[in-house]
Amino acid sequence: MTQMKISMSAPDLTDEDRQAVINVINTPVLSMGKYTADFEKAFCDYTGAKYAVSVNSGTAGLHLCVRAAGIGAGDFVITTPFSFVASTNALLFENATPIFVDIDPQTGNIDPELVADVAGNIEKFLPRKGANIDGNLKAILPVDVFGQPADMDAINAIAKEHGLRVIEDSCEALGATYKGKQAGTLGEFGVFAFYPNKQITTGEGGVIITDDERAANFMRALRNQGRAPGDTWLQHTHMGYNYRIDEMSAAMGASQMTRLDAILSKREQVAAWYEARLSEIPGVETPVIEPFTTRMSWFVYVIRFDQKINRDEMAKKLEARGIPVRPYFLPIHLQPYMVEKFGYQEGDFPITEDLGKRGLALPFSGVMTEEQVDYVCNILREEVLK
Ligand SMILES: Cc1ncc(COP(=O)(O)O)c(C=O)c1O
Repeated sequence: MTQMKISMSAPDLTDEDRQAVINVINTPVLSMGKYTADFEKAFCDYTGAKYAVSVNSGTAGLHLCVRAAGIGAGDFVITTPFSFVASTNALLFENATPIFVDIDPQTGNIDPELVADVAGNIEKFLPRKGANIDGNLKAILPVDVFGQPADMDAINAIAKEHGLRVIEDSCEALGATYKGKQAGTLGEFGVFAFYPNKQITTGEGGVIITDDERAANFMRALRNQGRAPGDTWLQHTHMGYNYRIDEMSAAMGASQMTRLDAILSKREQVAAWYEARLSEIPGVETPVIEPFTTRMSWFVYVIRFDQKINRDEMAKKLEARGIPVRPYFLPIHLQPYMVEKFGYQEGDFPITEDLGKRGLALPFSGVMTEEQVDYVCNILREEVLK
């Protein structure tokens, strides 16, 4: 087999996207201009949300939602340890305490039954240390893991019963649908992210969507150094941040949004090529899609090895043969700063830990060819059968 160059991920950009950036830099307006407004409108049009607020990362978007939901010091928020750390960090920025619950072993999404148990008996589920024992349960922050929506009807029902706010972390799920409804519109706030491995990219960037006008206005003020409508450049009604997206990024994103469905279809095709080849390899499990996921928005392609295959050794063998791979996710509760702050231990969230040990993201993007998928799968098959 001749060696093929394979990358872990790749943006799916056209000359039109590049031209959109050049158009911006030929004008003097490089921030807070027409393209930011266009980018936001594209999100309202695509998702049906009333308001969209663009920011310079998904993490910034989550942080603004936490502020807008009034989550503060000592508050508890139910969330998942099987995620990218930003979903938890957004809570820590405001000194709120994440209350982790374990996940569905198939999808990796937060398990609503466990969310219900925790919501009804929060004291029993506090971390060993680091939580304010007099805190109040304020919200649920589910994550649409790997581009598949969490079971949001069940989560919203629990939220309603207990009077909780819901922030949907859809950073990995732009364009996914749940029972026909757009990911990101399923809670009170939804957040998308555009790092270069995402479905669309702005280099760095994020968008929040919501139907709550007051919250949208507040978040617009916070992203712009706390300037409320009517404030001058040096007046700051609120303590805010610089979370503004720049015009180059917004133009690049707006250009990709015009062909989002085509971008997602290409990723669907690549996932289907993988599925067809990998489902025949013993010891390799391919992603499970729930019936309520009416459209998967493929973010990464994560396989799981059965117990007989050592994931870390397999990852090394694949890397040695020029196939980039990445363990997905290393559980949040076992990250050193979380162990130090909250006293988490191995065994606290066994399903998260199990998936964290067995999961491996393969090279994936919308610009991958069938030959490249073949190449990756052939090498994987050889290594598994050795
Ligand atoms: C689930 C999840 N939440 C939040 C983020 C944060 O997005 P960003 O990297 O744009 O800050 C990401 C993306 O990396 C993510 O995958």
